[in-house]
Amino acid sequence: MKLVRFAGLLISAAAFVSPTLSVAAAAPLNYDAWMNRQAPAADPQARDAFVENLLRQMTLDEKIGQLRLISVGPDNLRPDVIKDIAAGRIGAIFNTVVARDIRPMQQAAVDNSRLKIPLFFAYDVLHGHRTVFPIGLGLAASWDMEAVATSARIAAQEAAADGLDMSFSPMVDITRDPRWGRVSEGYGEDTWLTSRIGQVVVRAYQGTDLTAPDSIMAGVKHFALYGAGEGGRDYNTVDMSPQRMAQDYLPPYKAAVDAGAGGMMISLNSINGIPATSNKWLLQDVLRKQWGFKGLTISDHGAIHELMRHGVARDGREAAKLAIQAGIDLSMNDRLYAEHLAPLLRDGDIAQEDIDRAVRDVLAAKYDLGLFADPYRRLGPASEDPPDVNAESRLHREAARDIARRSLVLLKNDKQTLPLQKQGTIAVVGPLHDSQRDVMGSWSAAGVAKQSVSVLTGMQRAVGDRVRLITAHGANVTDDPAIQRYLNEYLPDVVVDPRPAQAMIDEAVQAAQAADVVVAVVGEAQGMAHEASSRTDIDVPPSQKRLLEALKATGKPLVIVLMNGRPLSLTWEDANADAMLETWFAGTEGGNAIADVLFGDYNPSGKLTMTFPKNVGQVPLYYQHLNTGRPFNPAAPNKYTSRYFDIENGPLYPFGYGLSYTQFSLSDVSLSSKAIKARDPLTASITVRNTGKRAGETVVQLYLQDLAGSISRPVKELKGFQKVMLQPGERRTLQFPITYDDLSFIGNDLKRVVEPGDFKVHVGLDSQDVKEAQFTLQ
Ligand code: BGC
Repeated sequence: MKLVRFAGLLISAAAFVSPTLSVAAAAPLNYDAWMNRQAPAADPQARDAFVENLLRQMTLDEKIGQLRLISVGPDNLRPDVIKDIAAGRIGAIFNTVVARDIRPMQQAAVDNSRLKIPLFFAYDVLHGHRTVFPIGLGLAASWDMEAVATSARIAAQEAAADGLDMSFSPMVDITRDPRWGRVSEGYGEDTWLTSRIGQVVVRAYQGTDLTAPDSIMAGVKHFALYGAGEGGRDYNTVDMSPQRMAQDYLPPYKAAVDAGAGGMMISLNSINGIPATSNKWLLQDVLRKQWGFKGLTISDHGAIHELMRHGVARDGREAAKLAIQAGIDLSMNDRLYAEHLAPLLRDGDIAQEDIDRAVRDVLAAKYDLGLFADPYRRLGPASEDPPDVNAESRLHREAARDIARRSLVLLKNDKQTLPLQKQGTIAVVGPLHDSQRDVMGSWSAAGVAKQSVSVLTGMQRAVGDRVRLITAHGANVTDDPAIQRYLNEYLPDVVVDPRPAQAMIDEAVQAAQAADVVVAVVGEAQGMAHEASSRTDIDVPPSQKRLLEALKATGKPLVIVLMNGRPLSLTWEDANADAMLETWFAGTEGGNAIADVLFGDYNPSGKLTMTFPKNVGQVPLYYQHLNTGRPFNPAAPNKYTSRYFDIENGPLYPFGYGLSYTQFSLSDVSLSSKAIKARDPLTASITVRNTGKRAGETVVQLYLQDLAGSISRPVKELKGFQKVMLQPGERRTLQFPITYDDLSFIGNDLKRVVEPGDFKVHVGLDSQDVKEAQFTLQ
C-alpha cells in the first residue's frame, strides 16, 4: 500500500524527450512581506455562484466521485483509472509526480467526463520537492523565516512545474515526544514558533495568487494533536485536557487557517476517545464554526476505514456515515464513500446536504486553484514537458546549501576543535559518512539520492587535495537484523556491510590512528525518523556507539557529526566528543553545507526547537512545563520534590540552544515600564555583543511567565526572537515589544483571558540561561 509513496524514486530514472520547462530561480523572500501578505481569496460570490450552478447539474454518482482522492503511482496508472476518471468517479489524485503521467488523467477528466470537472493533483511535498531542503525540525532550527519561506516557495515552484496543485504540508503538529518518528516532519515543541513557521510555509506555497501556475495549495496536517500520541507510538491514542489543547496544541492549525490555508488533513488518532475522522466537535465546532475555515477537509490515508478498528463504526457503511456527517470532504484512498454514500442517502441515513456540503468544498478548492479556468495551468502544454524530470537545471542548489547550513546546530565545541583546519589528515568514518540517501531524510521521494551531496563529498570538495581524507565505514547503522529488515521493508535503503562488526571497527580505528582528527558521521538512517518509526530507545544505536567508544580510545580529537530526525539522548557523546554538530537530514546540499560549517566557511547559528533529554526516561521533557507544587531546585536539592532520583532534572540541551564559533554576551534586560495598564505599550530591551573573534549570527529569545494566574501557567513561553548578525566586538540593542495578546492565555473555561498581576520577562540565547526582569499588569 505504501510503496507508491516512493514513486518519485522509481520514476526518477525515466528520461523523456521534449524541451525543458524551466523553473524560475526563487529570489530570497522578505519575512515581513510574507507574514503580512496572503493570496487574496477568490471573489466568494462569483465562486459560490459557479459552484452552485455546477452542483445543480451533477448526478449523485458524480458528486460522490468528487469526494474520492486516490493514490496513483507509476505502478498503478491502469486503464481502469482512466475509465473511472472519464466516468466522473474520481475527484483528485495523489502520488503521481510527473507531468507526462498526470496529463492523460486530466485529459480524461476534462475531455471525456460529462461535466468536464478537472482533477487536482496532490503530493507529500514536505521539505522540498526535486531539490530537498532540511527536514522540518532542521528548517525550524534555523530560526530564519526567510530561509523557511524560500525553501517553501522553491518547493511550490518545483512541484507546480511537475503539474502538482497541492502539497500535504506543512505539518504543524506540536511534538514533545522524541520517541515519535514524525517529530522529524514538524517544527518542534513550541506552539508560538510552530504557528509562525506554519504561516510562513502556507503563504509561501500559496503565493500572492493561488491561481498562479507556480502556486500550490497547502494541505495542513494533521488536524489535530497527532503529535501527542501516548508513549510516542505512532497512531496512538490522544487523551488531553481541552485547556491544554486550546493553549498548546491547536493554535498552529488555527494560525495556518488564518494564513489562508486551502486544505486541512484530518489526523489518524482519536482525541479523548473519538477519532478525529468522525469528530464533529473538532471538524465542525472548532474548525468551521470557531475558526471559520472555508477550505477543504481531507481524511488521512485510509482513515475512514480505520473508524472500524477504532471501534466507533460497526461496518464500512457506518464508517462512511460517521465521516461524512462529521465533515470529511475528501476520502483518501479508501472505497467507503464510493460504496456506501448512495445507499446511505437512499435509506435516509444521511442527508443530501451532507454530500453537497463536501462536494462544494472540493469544487471550491478547484476553483481557487484556477483549475476551472485552465485545468492545465500547472501542467503546461505537453511540448514543454521536461525531457528529464531530474535534470540538474531543475534544482536549486545554491538556496539549498545556504538554507541547510542555517539549520545546523553546534552542540559542543571544546578547545575550538571546530572549525577544522584545511590541512593534515582527517579520518572520516561512520555508517552515514558517505550516504546520499540518508542525508535527504524521509518524505523526499521526488528527490534523487544520486544528486545529493554526502558529508564525505562535501568535505572532499571543500579541501581539494590540501587534506588527506581517510575513510572507513566503521559500523552498520544497526546490527540488529530485525531493525535492518524493518528499514529495508519497501526499498533497499540501508546497505548492510556483511563484515564482522569488529573488523569494521578495527578499520576505522586504524584510520583514526593515522589521522590528526576524526570526524564520525553517526546517528539514524532516514527511515528511523519517519511515519511508523517510533523508538523506545533514542540513543545512537549500539553498533555505532561501540564504534565511537573505540574511536575515543585512540585519543584523537573526536568530532561527532550527527544525522538524525529526532532529539537523541547524547549523554555519552556529550561527555566524550570534543565537538558535536547536529545536522538533522540536511537535504540535497547537505554534505556541502556540513563541510561549510566543519571548515569554518560558515559560522553555525542554528538553535534547537525541541529539548534534548539526557535519557529517554525523562520524556516528555519540554521547556514550557508547569512548575508543580514541588519543583526541584538544584541549588537546594530536596527529596520530596518533582524529580527522578537517578538523574538530575533538566535536559542535556535545552530548547533554543546552539553554539557558534564566536561568543555572545547579553546585558541585563530593561523594561520600558515596571507597571502597565491593559494595552499600554511595553518594550523589553537588551544589548547583545559579539565578544569573540569571528562574525556570527545568534538568536536572542524572549520568554514570558505569568507568575500567578487563575490556572498554573508555564515557567516560560516563547513570545519573540530576533536573529542578529554581529561583527567581532559589535553590539546591538534589541527592542522586543510585548503586546497585550502576549500576556493572554486560555483559561479553564476555554476563553482567552489576560489577568492582572506580576510577569517575568526572560531573555536568553537559549531557554535556560536567561536574564530576567519583572513587571506588573495593573
Ligand atoms: C500520512 C500523511 C500523508 C499521507 C499521504 C499518511 O499515511 O499520515 O502524512 O500525507 O499518508 O501520503
